[in-house]
Amino acid sequence: MTLLNDTEIDAVVIATPVRFHYEMAKASLNAGKHTFIEKPMARTVAEGEELVALAERQGLVLMVGHTFLFSPAVRRMKEIIDSGDIGELQYISARRLNLGLFQKDINVAWDLAPHDISIILHLLDEQPASVSCQGNSHVTRGIEDVTMMYLNFRKNRCAFIQNSWLDPKKVRQMTVVGSRRMIVYDDTEPLEKLKIYDARVEVPPHYDSFAEFTYSYHYGDAYVPYIKQDEPLKLECQHFLDCIREECAPITGGRHGLEVVRILEASTISLGQHGAAVSLDPSAPSRNGDQRLDGDGKSANSNGHGNGNGNGDAITPAAGRNILAV
Ligand SMILES: NC(=O)c1ccc[n+]([C@@H]2O[C@H](COP(=O)([O-])OP(=O)(O)OC[C@H]3O[C@@H](n4cnc5c(N)ncnc54)[C@H](O)[C@@H]3O)[C@@H](O)[C@H]2O)c1
Repeated sequence: MTLLNDTEIDAVVIATPVRFHYEMAKASLNAGKHTFIEKPMARTVAEGEELVALAERQGLVLMVGHTFLFSPAVRRMKEIIDSGDIGELQYISARRLNLGLFQKDINVAWDLAPHDISIILHLLDEQPASVSCQGNSHVTRGIEDVTMMYLNFRKNRCAFIQNSWLDPKKVRQMTVVGSRRMIVYDDTEPLEKLKIYDARVEVPPHYDSFAEFTYSYHYGDAYVPYIKQDEPLKLECQHFLDCIREECAPITGGRHGLEVVRILEASTISLGQHGAAVSLDPSAPSRNGDQRLDGDGKSANSNGHGNGNGNGDAITPAAGRNILAV
């Protein structure tokens, strides 16, 4: 409170466990401070929406610690994709695994997937139409330590995110598959973080019989693009200060942070529905009817063990935008 009452202080950084983010950020914004919150910005969409609205009302910078959008490798990957070099982006597969650190209040998806989700939203420049997630808890009952999330995007594009606190090796890998080329991003590599493979499958444009139908596999060179070394955390902090000074919106502002939380919240609902697809599209009709749940971010049959193959038949309202299982 002393800090928030100090008129010499213009900005506050909140880097505590997620359960404190909302209350602290709310107090900071109400005290008129520009606020940086570590990822994920809040525990629920409702909390995130309130913080975004509060920052906008107060005319304050609200930034979320989605550090990887400041990684030179991710920035280069975005440039390569936007240039059309890899062709039509078809799917992204991400793996973020390690041994621990076990959290007591959030599952592994809330701990590790925010980075992958934030990168994927940045690369694809759109929100997924639906989210599914399956997972299991092996160590702490009710808190999934392995999860697999599936994000379904328009135009036949999708992304898979695998997260684990139970893996002997630290893995930070993302594969971006395009119709002409493929990119492998390995953040554990000290220098050669990106590798571009000139590999693709070609389908014959016309064929009359099954005998004429053959796929051809193209294997070309692989190359490593030059990436200037820069520390993402330093760039992130500099961006926060620049946004305050220049009164502009951060790349990883409250709205970006909120979209990440929306996907995480949908993943929790899906886990409770045994992996059912949860729609983020307000106009999408439910395939199974519209059975409403409580809207508290938990599904009716959630038991903390989200494994299985249910057929999801419920919708969950979330403030501002419907989330429904399809
Ligand atoms: N952007 C990134 O790359 C990245 C990396 C790691 C962690 N994080 C995020 O940073 C946040 C903190 O993670 P961590 O691993 O450092 O957690 P941690 O538990 O190791 O550290 C949290 C810090 O918050 C302090 N704290 C806890 N409760 C507090 C309270 N009520 N008031 C004031 N201080 C309090 C603790 O004393 C500790 O110094 C999380 O949101 C996490 O997701 C982000």
